[in-house]
Amino acid sequence: MRRPFALSKPAQAGLEPQRSAPRGPLRLRPGKAGSAAPTCNTEKAYKSCAVALPAGLIRAMQDNPTQVPLWRQLQGAASLLMAVRDGQSMTAALEDVDAALRPGVQSLGFHALRWLGRAEALRQQLAKRPPPPEADALLCVALALAWNEADAPYTPYVLVDQAVEAAKRSEATTHQASFINGCLRRFLRERDELVAITDKSPQAVWNHPQWWIDRVRKDHPDSWQAILRANNNRASLILRINERKTTPGQYLRGLAAMNIEAYPVGEYGVVLVNAQPIPSLPGFAEGHFSVQDAAAQLAAPLLVKGLAPMHGRGRLNILDACAAPGGKTAHLLELVDADVTALDIDARRCERIGHNLQRLGLQAHIVVGDAGQPDGWWDGMLFDAILLDAPCTASGIVRRHPDVRWLRRPTDIAQLAALQAQLLDTLWPLLKPGGRLVYCTCSVFRAEGDVQIQTFVAHHTDAILMPSPGHLLPQNGVASPASPTLPDNLAGEHDGFYYALLEKRNA
Ligand SMILES: C[S@@+](CC[C@H](N)C(=O)[O-])C[C@H]1O[C@@H](n2cnc3c(N)ncnc32)[C@H](O)[C@@H]1O
Repeated sequence: MRRPFALSKPAQAGLEPQRSAPRGPLRLRPGKAGSAAPTCNTEKAYKSCAVALPAGLIRAMQDNPTQVPLWRQLQGAASLLMAVRDGQSMTAALEDVDAALRPGVQSLGFHALRWLGRAEALRQQLAKRPPPPEADALLCVALALAWNEADAPYTPYVLVDQAVEAAKRSEATTHQASFINGCLRRFLRERDELVAITDKSPQAVWNHPQWWIDRVRKDHPDSWQAILRANNNRASLILRINERKTTPGQYLRGLAAMNIEAYPVGEYGVVLVNAQPIPSLPGFAEGHFSVQDAAAQLAAPLLVKGLAPMHGRGRLNILDACAAPGGKTAHLLELVDADVTALDIDARRCERIGHNLQRLGLQAHIVVGDAGQPDGWWDGMLFDAILLDAPCTASGIVRRHPDVRWLRRPTDIAQLAALQAQLLDTLWPLLKPGGRLVYCTCSVFRAEGDVQIQTFVAHHTDAILMPSPGHLLPQNGVASPASPTLPDNLAGEHDGFYYALLEKRNA
């Protein structure tokens, strides 16, 4: 992958144009007298910088290695955008970014990917012929961050100033610096007119590729706009409380004692009003919680609650067929005493299952294997219950992974649906008569949800579709009369998911 902007060693000599003298990192002006200058390396912190900074002012000041100048973070965000345009996930691309730069680059990169549709449409207005890819990425990042002043992490003037600085400081873009400057200054002068022109493009308005908009509209004619709107919001940090160690009520009281604002969601969930570094939360090392979206927290109870009467017959034998990194495996083990086989095709991700279970004080039989080829790992014992959290387009978790919509191709849906169907067909015979299977995907596309399951049930006369949540659509915040929940959705905040509970007829 091209790396136009050096990100792994921030201060490395020779990576910046020699014509400009090395400058110290930027320090933002203190907000209130005596308060320390904010360091802009968390999503929350960089937002607060916008408040502390007088409009249009930013100063390059003394050396302070703990602070990362904004121009460098913009270079990082542009590199991430180039990686995504090259087909790499943002999570993978971030691994190449120096640890000191990563939080700031991630925040700006996330923001830019949320508003990329608008930014690309604006760029087309400003330059009919796109500039070289490196300059285009930097320009689009600056436009994505600055186009909506109310939501911009810094004032548009600061962003423009620093984007031009970023262009000057990289060999890949230095010859485009005055072009970028011209485009962005014009954008500042004519913002309202330019934004109004781009309002004619659905891709700019909804910030998703056109095919994605069309597909969501076809699949959810009554709620497509709410889904797309929700996708462009930030998702809250949600914890699942480990009921083997504590309860949501107790945990919430502990947070309140530390002045950490939080509220309950669902049976096991706690929503943090402001995101916090996970290891600093109480009870992390002791395994009191896991990070898991509220919709994902439905899987384990849906599978095991109906199986409770079978407890008397000894321990349940459960297969978690696509288990890594083990979020739902852990929840199963928190709810029931069971022998759980945690299977995943990806050996590296299987290691993460082990680490996660260890922290939570839980144990499973972790197996690296292909769920579609049981001969390689199955001992012939039928399972009481199977969880198939199948590989999917991830179209329901766009709030948390804003790159997904730009990485997917329309053909992915059919390909993944075919893989899901094959996994369902292969695993169904491994289930005992009377046993239960939960099929789920973190997708809003019907081909990976109810269409998949209707087809399955039509071809398997021993499969009974039990009462199930079906399609849960992504939404933000607690429901209120002003922002009602989507029909049939859980109240409150969660990602998009699909759930079906199937029971195998007794012969
Ligand atoms: C949606 S993720 C699972 C998330 C997990 N259930 C959790 O809650 O933490 C899908 C997983 O399926 C795995 N996978 C994909 N194809 C597979 C196959 N043929 N057999 C087993 N695992 C597979 C992927 O490696 C990935 O870890």
